[in-house]
Amino acid sequence: MTELSPESPLLQPLELGDIHTRNRVFMAPLTRSRSGDDGVPGDLVVEYYRQRAGAGLIVSEGTQPSAVGKGYTNTPGLHTDEQQAGWAKIADAVHGEGGKIVVQLMHAGRVSHPDNSGLEAIAPSAIAPGIEMFTKGGSKEIPAPREIAADEIARVVDVFVDASTRAIEAGLDGVELHAANGYLLHQFLADGANHRTDSYGGSPENRARLVVEIVRAVSAAIGAGRVGIRISPGGTASGITEDDTTGAYEALLSQIDGLGLSYLHVLIDAEDPFLGKLRSAWSGPFVLNTGFAAVTTRDKAEKLVSDEITDAVTVGRPFIANPDLVTRWTHDTELNTPDESTFYGGGAEGYIDYPSLEG
Ligand SMILES: Cc1cc2nc3c(=O)[nH]c(=O)nc-3n(C[C@H](O)[C@H](O)[C@H](O)COP(=O)(O)O)c2cc1C
Repeated sequence: MTELSPESPLLQPLELGDIHTRNRVFMAPLTRSRSGDDGVPGDLVVEYYRQRAGAGLIVSEGTQPSAVGKGYTNTPGLHTDEQQAGWAKIADAVHGEGGKIVVQLMHAGRVSHPDNSGLEAIAPSAIAPGIEMFTKGGSKEIPAPREIAADEIARVVDVFVDASTRAIEAGLDGVELHAANGYLLHQFLADGANHRTDSYGGSPENRARLVVEIVRAVSAAIGAGRVGIRISPGGTASGITEDDTTGAYEALLSQIDGLGLSYLHVLIDAEDPFLGKLRSAWSGPFVLNTGFAAVTTRDKAEKLVSDEITDAVTVGRPFIANPDLVTRWTHDTELNTPDESTFYGGGAEGYIDYPSLEG
């Protein structure tokens, strides 16, 4: 057993724009599908986040900024007063424990079954993702979405602005724009999902245009220092494909670096050569998640931060099973094992009943 020394890079505070974190072990965004059909996160969700407030920063589960942006069953939203009130309770609970929390705004785009949202999905192009999705009627193939009309684009920007404004009104520390893992913003960036012939498709600059517009508009509304963004270049989650895996990201980062955003959150294998390029294209705080292939260990996380590959790491599955992960990593104590069968949906079991060291 090796205790982390108080000088460990993982235990140092970090300034993420306007957000001050007390350590560099962040909780990755994790969809858990425990909110009601109305997208209101209730007391169970409040308790789940309260338990995990020891993370330097909690990035919440993907949260729809509009009804049509809902992908999976029982995900929370942030577009009604009731949902906002639920998030206000979460913000209070996390702050009461000395933690910080941003909400991840996730518009699912084409990765949405009408049985879940009650609406026809919208996306840059009418191309189905080619995957199945869990619905209340079982697993079903996702149908092709409707292409977003040119005059609807401004509305998409607006829903991100409105949800971000609600996040700040609810007392959250900021927002993370979800431009990763095959959802709407990634669909615009990716040439496999975006076949538009207008100014939002085609060249890398055009594919990055909507994301840049949303970043700018949300920053103008709530302050860039409270806005983070997540990308997953080359990732293939939810049926996304990119022939040009770098162009749109270079176009995106060259336009949003220098706006003073809170952070860039990258989901990529730590050995991927593109990681170094992204790091050098970004002058602000950098947050890394090393992806699904291998779960990040404490020693790996410490090396990534001490080698300045990243300023902070986000950790997903270990936080599901270890609410006090930072304490456990600090004292090098045994970890609980996550139970995959309770990742999505259900109640308290596998959600708020993982033991902490202090009981
Ligand atoms: C149950 C589960 C739900 C997830 N939900 C989200 C999500 O809502 N938004 C997101 O950006 N990533 C999501 N991810 C990806 C995680 O943020 C993270 O990138 C992934 O789990 C790999 O990190 P890990 O090895 O530390 O778990 C999810 C992953 C899991 C296992």
